[in-house]
Amino acid sequence: MSRLVVVSNRVAVPTDGPAQAGGLAVALREALQENGGIWFGWSGKTSPKPQDEPTMTEVEPVTYATLDLSRRDHQEYYNGFANRTLWPLFHYRLDLADFNRQDYAGYLRVNTHFAERLRPLIREDDDLWVHDYHLIPFASELRRLGVENRIGFFLHTPFPTMEVLLALPSHDRLARSLCAYDVVGFQTVNDLRAFHEYIVHEAGGEILGDNMVRAFGRTLKAEVYPIGIEVETMQRTSAHAMQEPAVRRLVKHMGERNLVIGVDRLDYSKGIPERFRSFERFLEKFPAHQGKVSLMQIAPVSRGEVPEYKNIREELEALAGHINGVYGELDWMPIRYLNKGYPRETLTGFYRTCRVGLVTPLRDGMNLVAKEYVASQNPHEPGVLVLSRFAGAARELDAALQVNPYDQDNVAEALNRAITMPLEERRERWESMMAKVHDSSLDKWRERFLSVLRSVPPGGFGNA
Ligand code: G6P
Repeated sequence: MSRLVVVSNRVAVPTDGPAQAGGLAVALREALQENGGIWFGWSGKTSPKPQDEPTMTEVEPVTYATLDLSRRDHQEYYNGFANRTLWPLFHYRLDLADFNRQDYAGYLRVNTHFAERLRPLIREDDDLWVHDYHLIPFASELRRLGVENRIGFFLHTPFPTMEVLLALPSHDRLARSLCAYDVVGFQTVNDLRAFHEYIVHEAGGEILGDNMVRAFGRTLKAEVYPIGIEVETMQRTSAHAMQEPAVRRLVKHMGERNLVIGVDRLDYSKGIPERFRSFERFLEKFPAHQGKVSLMQIAPVSRGEVPEYKNIREELEALAGHINGVYGELDWMPIRYLNKGYPRETLTGFYRTCRVGLVTPLRDGMNLVAKEYVASQNPHEPGVLVLSRFAGAARELDAALQVNPYDQDNVAEALNRAITMPLEERRERWESMMAKVHDSSLDKWRERFLSVLRSVPPGGFGNA
């Protein structure tokens, strides 16, 4: 079988330590381990000048090839166009999107530079799999350099509706470059529909049978591949994690009380301020829970140099302080707000301990915390998932208590329902969600995408 080349902005180099070994990292690493291959991308470091020769780390049978970004590239490509333009735009936050030509030029420059650096490492029969919004123009850059291999792309974030995408000054070039791939994968049917809408109504393209799309002079396959988690590993880990010191401490401190858990990168798309306000509303509307239920919000700082991320941090500190000040008692605090990350294993123990998983993003590509919360539960006494309808995961997890995260009363009522839900109903909902989580496990996601990519005829589906 052909060798695989994975390209992503973040690369999980094993010798850099276990901290990066998240679900996606593990899945991609496994895909590479099957047939050997290269994982190429940013090293996570900056240096005064762009790095010309990638740093190669061999961990048989995978070669990790990483490049440092210059400070300017880091600012314009990563902090700038990727995280101040595309990220807010793709999450429907036009109000937070910054359109700046210099950042856009930096984004294209890094994509060009990365493609040029990868080019000499590519063999004729390699298959390439590129990930996420940082690298949309990557395939068109490789094509320009004469690469004719199969190239697939998976978008981990939502793809916005046409009306939102049109606000991006460079939407045409971006959509054109997306069509330089042979296979494009989205998280949900909503995202695929939004892409189709753009292709038909803005790009003058066509939707053909068998999920094929013809636009900008190319034919490609665009499909839905909902990403999943490693279900069995998660189940095993969560049972073991109950013996971990941090989990035991949590259980001891909780006593008879119930905990609601939220775990998110500190990002405005996750709806954390709205969640805090909804929790306040819950305490107000259902005072019997005062003194008995707390929200534990774990939110490690993310993209801390981007101004909008600094603002949300300040907003949350003020909100948590306000709610704890108004409702807190000597021996009970309504909100436990922690700005640090925990090892995955410990988190699974936290999920298993907490009666409610509160996952209320305003918009999210998939949201794996929702699936992880479900998989970590004790089958005899499962907790309840309260899930935003705007998370990609809501498509599959229809047995969760689904909420509109903008509607505080709705979330407060769902929390009350979750806390008071009889065991029988909790079990029924959990079993139904587990079946769905199994259906879209990480292995299946990866195997499905790669088998479609590998079925692309040599030279692609042809040019129109
Ligand atoms: C989201 C994106 C990923 C990104 C991750 C962490 O899940 O889809 O591409 O790697 O956030 O963000 P960061 O900016 O730290 O890589």
